[in-house]
Amino acid sequence: MPVYQYDGKSFVCIDDFHQYALQTLAKTSLDYYESGAEDELTLKANLESFKNILINPRLLVDISHIDTSSSILGNKVSMPIGFAPTALHRLAHDEGEKATAKAAFDAGIAMCLSSYSTTSIEDVALSTNHQGILFFQLYFNINREITTNLLKRAHASGYKAIALTIDAQVSGFRRKDHKNKFTLPSYMSFANFENQELLQNLSATNSSSSVMHNLLNSADHSITWEDLAWIKEISQLPLIVKGILNAEDAELALKFGADAVWITNHGGRQIDGCRTAIEVLPEVCEALKGSEIEIYVDGGVRKGSDVYKALALGADHVFIGRPVLYGLASGGQQGVSAVINILHDELQRNMQLSGKVSIKNITRTSVMFRK
Ligand code: LAC
Repeated sequence: MPVYQYDGKSFVCIDDFHQYALQTLAKTSLDYYESGAEDELTLKANLESFKNILINPRLLVDISHIDTSSSILGNKVSMPIGFAPTALHRLAHDEGEKATAKAAFDAGIAMCLSSYSTTSIEDVALSTNHQGILFFQLYFNINREITTNLLKRAHASGYKAIALTIDAQVSGFRRKDHKNKFTLPSYMSFANFENQELLQNLSATNSSSSVMHNLLNSADHSITWEDLAWIKEISQLPLIVKGILNAEDAELALKFGADAVWITNHGGRQIDGCRTAIEVLPEVCEALKGSEIEIYVDGGVRKGSDVYKALALGADHVFIGRPVLYGLASGGQQGVSAVINILHDELQRNMQLSGKVSIKNITRTSVMFRK
């Protein structure tokens, strides 16, 4: 059982990292990370959705050897848990995305870098000696030159896939951020947009608040499914469509050439009152049955048993967002590594306790819905 010690405290579960982050992060940073949209119904539902899924253990199976390894878009990983894109890691720790990427690399798992990272595409790749399993999350900017530039840089730096966010054409309304007038501290920047004349043109002045405002309002509202092919052509990389919340859009993603669908409600930060990824997952699996497309989920994953449940319901890969930030806030790279170790240990123990020796053994009959 991995016990992580930091700042005189012991951490044995993700909630311990959460509590530490709540006690130590600056209020405005914490509010930015923790907030959901509007009444935060979806934010809360994400956590709740795992409670109605019950694990169905099969016993007296030889569990002497457990293999948690898996793959994602052809890349081998030590377990089917990856880092979802979250913005502004330097708010949690000065090492920011470099610490996050190094922890993911050390563990042999995938990380999806946010467009709105505080470390550049190139510096994050360099921090893993270009060996990391890195994906790049894209907001489709209204200025196609900016979008093209990001896609080409991701390709040139060895990123393995593009994850197009489709659920944030406008930003969800997070009340605390508006009350706090949240903006980036002046000693940080949106590192992927630095020194770009194009962005200066979008921005009236170069203060961090106007850059943030302009960035968040610079999504191309006119893009449709037809634009997926353009992204693939420019990036020359596999494409993940992130933000799927029903079977119909999953089928369109498949039809228009996506290599993976990512079922998510953006951590409850966009439309409030929609379904959770776990609720949507079975219908998407049914709709995409027989295709090669991969299916990912995120939202409310805090334990190895949550990962197990998502895998049983048909996910190929499960992503964590806020737990990574909690780890970062608890000692940087070491804290993130500790988060990974704990989730790995929990997933492995769940597999042992339910008689599953490999990820492929976790199937639909491994869980039941509470009646
Ligand atoms: C957010 C955007 C940046 O959720 O994805 O804050």
